[in-house]
Amino acid sequence: MSRFEPLSKLLATYRTRTIVMIALALFMSCCEPNPVVAQTPPGGTSGTVRERLLMDFGWRFALGDARDPWKDFRYSTADFFFAKAGYGDGPASPRFDDRAWRMVNLPHDWAVELPFDPNTNGNHGSKAIGRNFPQNDVGWYRKTFTIPESDLGRRIGIEFDGVYRDSVVWINGHYLGNEHSGYSSFYYDLTDYLNYGGTNVIAVRADATIEEGWFYEGAGIYRHVRLTKTSPLHVAHDGTFVTSEIAGDVAKITATVTVVNDGTGDATFWIDQTILNGEGTPVSSANGECATLKPGDRGDYSLELDVKNPELWSIETPHLQKLVTTIHAGNTVMDRYVTTFGIRTIRFDPNLGFFLNGKHVEIKGTDNHQDHAGVGNAVPDSLLEYRIARLKEMGSNAYRTSHNPPTPELLDACDRQGMLVLDEHRMMGTTPEILDQLKRLVFRDRNHPSVILWSIGNEEWTLEWSVTGERLTAAMQAFVKRLDPTRRVTVALSGSGAGNSLATDVFGFNYYRQNDIDKMHAKFPDRPIVGTEESSSTHTRGVYADDLAHQHLVAYDYEADGKHASVEDSWHFYLARPFAAGLFYWTGFDYRGEPTPFDWPAISSQFGMLDTCGFFKDNAYLLQSWWTEKPMVHLLPHWNWLGKEGQEINVRAYSNADEVELFLNGQSLGRKPMSKNSHLEWNVAYQSGTLEALGYKDGKEVARDAVATTTAAAAIELIPHLASIKADGEAVSIIAVRVNDAKGRMVPTADNPIAFTLSGPGKIIGVGNGDPSSHEPDQYLEIVTSIPIQNWRLHEVDSMMDLSDVGLDFDDSGWKKAADRGWQDPVPTKPETQPKVYRASFELPELATNAKLTLILRSLGEQQSIYVNGKSLGQELHWDRVGYELELDRTVLHPGRNVLAIVASPLQIGRGQSFQWKDFGPGAIRVEVPAAQWKRSVFSGLAQVIVQSTKQPGEITLTATSPGLASANLKIESQPTQLRGAVPER
Ligand code: GAL
Repeated sequence: MSRFEPLSKLLATYRTRTIVMIALALFMSCCEPNPVVAQTPPGGTSGTVRERLLMDFGWRFALGDARDPWKDFRYSTADFFFAKAGYGDGPASPRFDDRAWRMVNLPHDWAVELPFDPNTNGNHGSKAIGRNFPQNDVGWYRKTFTIPESDLGRRIGIEFDGVYRDSVVWINGHYLGNEHSGYSSFYYDLTDYLNYGGTNVIAVRADATIEEGWFYEGAGIYRHVRLTKTSPLHVAHDGTFVTSEIAGDVAKITATVTVVNDGTGDATFWIDQTILNGEGTPVSSANGECATLKPGDRGDYSLELDVKNPELWSIETPHLQKLVTTIHAGNTVMDRYVTTFGIRTIRFDPNLGFFLNGKHVEIKGTDNHQDHAGVGNAVPDSLLEYRIARLKEMGSNAYRTSHNPPTPELLDACDRQGMLVLDEHRMMGTTPEILDQLKRLVFRDRNHPSVILWSIGNEEWTLEWSVTGERLTAAMQAFVKRLDPTRRVTVALSGSGAGNSLATDVFGFNYYRQNDIDKMHAKFPDRPIVGTEESSSTHTRGVYADDLAHQHLVAYDYEADGKHASVEDSWHFYLARPFAAGLFYWTGFDYRGEPTPFDWPAISSQFGMLDTCGFFKDNAYLLQSWWTEKPMVHLLPHWNWLGKEGQEINVRAYSNADEVELFLNGQSLGRKPMSKNSHLEWNVAYQSGTLEALGYKDGKEVARDAVATTTAAAAIELIPHLASIKADGEAVSIIAVRVNDAKGRMVPTADNPIAFTLSGPGKIIGVGNGDPSSHEPDQYLEIVTSIPIQNWRLHEVDSMMDLSDVGLDFDDSGWKKAADRGWQDPVPTKPETQPKVYRASFELPELATNAKLTLILRSLGEQQSIYVNGKSLGQELHWDRVGYELELDRTVLHPGRNVLAIVASPLQIGRGQSFQWKDFGPGAIRVEVPAAQWKRSVFSGLAQVIVQSTKQPGEITLTATSPGLASANLKIESQPTQLRGAVPER
């Protein structure tokens, strides 16, 4: 314990002024405010000493080009581009005009917006991106924001949870860095580059040409971005580490904090650590000794705190605590940093499996990629929450983040819901770059109680048989354990017995039929074992006979091939081996890409227990029957077999009851004992009507399920997962779209097209239906493109009234070029007297009739008259710092070459600053095509619509219509809420 009683405790215990004064005097005697560092943090001693502002709203976005810099907004073409600091050109330049770009909010995945295309990698999800689509491979994001003058003196940085991929980030034209991985979180300090009391521009270029995985990976800033502001003396980024040991009814917490002094003088301070329980009540605190850090130094400080009768984090009761770290310099609070953590113990035993809080837990896990129907990899936090809840509902208790670091909000959801996590790093290696990525992962995630094991690799085929593999594994594991001695490390192995498996700390076996697990256990009796992947069998939701023409596979559990066992056999294998900790099924959710065993036109995998929308497939119920206690019965297949009357249908029941009895149209077909971890089957001669299964425990009915022959599709039903959401611009309601017959029963074979309209303060952000071969769009968005204005020429004239050369067909080839390799600096250095005429052209493609075209232009003169194809667009417009946005009359335009002419009076000296750059001209044409109506067909009776709130509260109405079906109306309340601190949209 520390030398000092915590101040809060003193205040609570002895409510006398004298003692408080003594305590303060005591601290100040050893931690007096240092005049050199006397940084009174902006915000003073209130909670604003540290700000973490969400930076998701109001970005501008446009596609660039991976091969042609001239189509990539001339990025990297200017003199001294990468040679001199602050020479970021094209969109990296703060002077770039992005008004012709589309507005987007983060998280954003531009790949999911693209059409499907056979000329790309099917394993990657068949979106038109990658090597063959350079025009779709580069995404540019820009955000303009202001920093108040009062922030001068603070440390300001930007956090990216993940950008896919190869991101280059610029601030005000200055290069900040390049993160190759699409999965690593990264942070840049902006302090020295910002305009305090002015505007600032962050520009991000992401290049998705190269694939990092063999599954759908999305593209863009698909995770959150935050701006952080601290005092110069502050807790380091991801700079706390909380560990716990439990002894009797006391948890001994070790709280380590890394403090950084980014100030210019020595900093003397003391640290106060306070633990708050789930209700926010302080349960323990401790103060550190006085410490001093020299400028530029960092130090680690550990304090021990006892928590009596701690509320442990577990799968069933995932209690969380908060550690509040406060740094005091003299009597000034310099930083306050909150770390959420949980108190629990974990242990992998080589003979007995896994233990949480000393209790044996069988790992009932699933592997998952990160994409969801409709939104791809841009998954809002509340959708992550939903996905984890769906897996919990199935009875799963563990999640493997195959094969990459997850977004941190996924771990928050797992912490909150009690889901164990196997947290996986992307690329094996020991280079500084790779180890730095690994370090960032461990530092970021090591306080999450849900994380029980690190994985440093998956099926590394060149390493599984080589000594290099053994070395890399040993070195990476040792590295991880130095950063986090509380957790063990695994590698998911597709082959074992040599290479990296020899060094693997906890054996992760991908498929028992690929690894001789018993032999490995016998040979390495001290190594714990977990099945990191299992089964990989493929099934389509609601399909009960293979339909190869549509790439649909029967949903009964079966063995896919000799290498991949059925779901049931896999479970039995692990149940029979108590020395193993349990397994992770490949996969929880279907994901885009890897359409095994098919290829195009199939576009998504079918390994999931749930489909891409999160609708349960039958296998999810199979697992639920083994993994949950609440009585349930699930019956399959559906009972719409018109034309198969009299033929035998294989009927299965999945249940956790003791016995199940099957009835067809009220007639019992027999009651059977239900063995645990198994299923029941009957062959039933088909007759239309109702097939019903009743589950019994101790002879009493505890659950039932029925499938009935429906009549024709008659009506749409909309079922929201939440009827009320927060009006924060982030929350979503996930709405199941069902097609029912006249009696309200879902028609399991329905495939009706459904159209959606939405009114009120919300928007649809994606639609899906779980069909692994559907090429229907995921999103229906407004399309915004920017058309460059090129071939600028100029000519001096005598008068603004000289209009002889503004027409479409005027020959300006004899005029001086105004822009050669880029826009030439038109800033006059001496007063000019003569007006100029500028002429330029832009090429228009055939455009939709409802396309809206806007000329985005900066001022070229003190006054300007603007003509398009000889027709006036504006007369004598005065100089404007921002410039103009002038809607173009479509009747004046035509596909092909169009001409812009500007008659401009001389600029005053200095006025040209706003377009004084060589890499971007003074204008562009913005083309906006309104979004088409949202639609999606139901597949096997179901589809999904994801509706997101805006920041306005109110009632959102979703309407679904389809020819011949009764339409549906759904009302969702968007409730006023406290918004997260955020950087303003614009
Ligand atoms: C595994 C691999 C997974 C996935 C799976 C499909 O070998 O680790 O990422 O590809 O096969 O069966």
